[in-house]
Amino acid sequence: MLILGIETSCDETGLALYDSAGGLLSHALHSQVDLHAVYGGVVPELASRDHVRRLMPLLHLVLERAGRVLPDLDGVAYTRGPGLAGALLVGAGAARALAWALDRPALGVHHMEAHLLAPLLEPDPPAFPFVALLVSGGHTMLVQVAGVGRYRLLGESVDDAAGEAFDKTAKLLGLGYPGGPALERLAGDGDAGRFRLPRPMTDRPGLDFSFSGLKTQARTLIRQHGDEPGAAAAIAFAFQDAVADTLAIKCRRALAEAGAERLVVSGGVSANAVIRRRLDDTAAAAGARAYYPRLELCTDNGAMVAYAGWCRMRHGQQDGLDFDVRPRWSLDGLRPPRAG
Ligand code: KG4
Ligand code: ZN
Repeated sequence: MLILGIETSCDETGLALYDSAGGLLSHALHSQVDLHAVYGGVVPELASRDHVRRLMPLLHLVLERAGRVLPDLDGVAYTRGPGLAGALLVGAGAARALAWALDRPALGVHHMEAHLLAPLLEPDPPAFPFVALLVSGGHTMLVQVAGVGRYRLLGESVDDAAGEAFDKTAKLLGLGYPGGPALERLAGDGDAGRFRLPRPMTDRPGLDFSFSGLKTQARTLIRQHGDEPGAAAAIAFAFQDAVADTLAIKCRRALAEAGAERLVVSGGVSANAVIRRRLDDTAAAAGARAYYPRLELCTDNGAMVAYAGWCRMRHGQQDGLDFDVRPRWSLDGLRPPRAG
């Protein structure tokens, strides 16, 4: 079964071909980072227009790379939400039209479910059940996963997502957009013992997160020490260290609470090497193992959408001829795959 995946929920146009026999055959991405950088964040209308421009050329590219043609497709999966309404509509419209023209099924998938399942694309994938930590620009969640569509939300951020906190703190430090990778690079040169930030909400039971206070405390440090030599890197280090520790503490709790032996970590922030190492250690200390997607599949991409689509379409799940998008869509409400 050959599935085309289309991701357009935010600022990357991602397309991919997943084949149940051959695995991930090809994937291609156009990142709009340069387009939005001058504004310091994503401009929704510009994002939608750029998806329109990029989508068809990327479709031909993934087909060419895989040596396939459009009629080879058995189905088309696209990101239905959550995300920017206009951006989602570009992918949904293209996917629905393509599927109709080819007389194939189409399915709108949940962006966070796609992130959650992305590590299953790797060799030696985790078996169910597992605990998933989803850390992206829009979400921070801990989820108990019994199987595809069998999710129990254990905790989530009550304010900023982890990636959002990285982006905002990076901005305060005068780094470009997106801030996560830039902050990680700067923190690499940082003096480890110079500043320390708290580990929010770890002093009480529960698995929720709060990251907006860290950004505020980083701002105070920047005000007080910003012009001292090496201060920016040391503040970046302290911020990243606090986020890594906080995630690790909550993951340890979640593994214990769920009695799980596998921790799956996905979403843009899971590309962070310091956070990966900390979570590897946490999992090992709990007698568990951590699983991640390869780096290029941590951030938004079409491969995870094609794969999540296949996980459901293989059981016959598909949408009707009408389509809509869900800019806000909770993961908790998803159900296991069903035919029709
Ligand atoms: O999953 P993603 O590509 O898009 C969303 O669904 O939100 O995640 C993007 C987020 C951004 O906030 C970005 O700054 C963050 O992931 N990110 C990182 C790193 N790479 C990307 N954060 C920390 N360290 C990184 N290396
Ligand atoms: Zn994402």
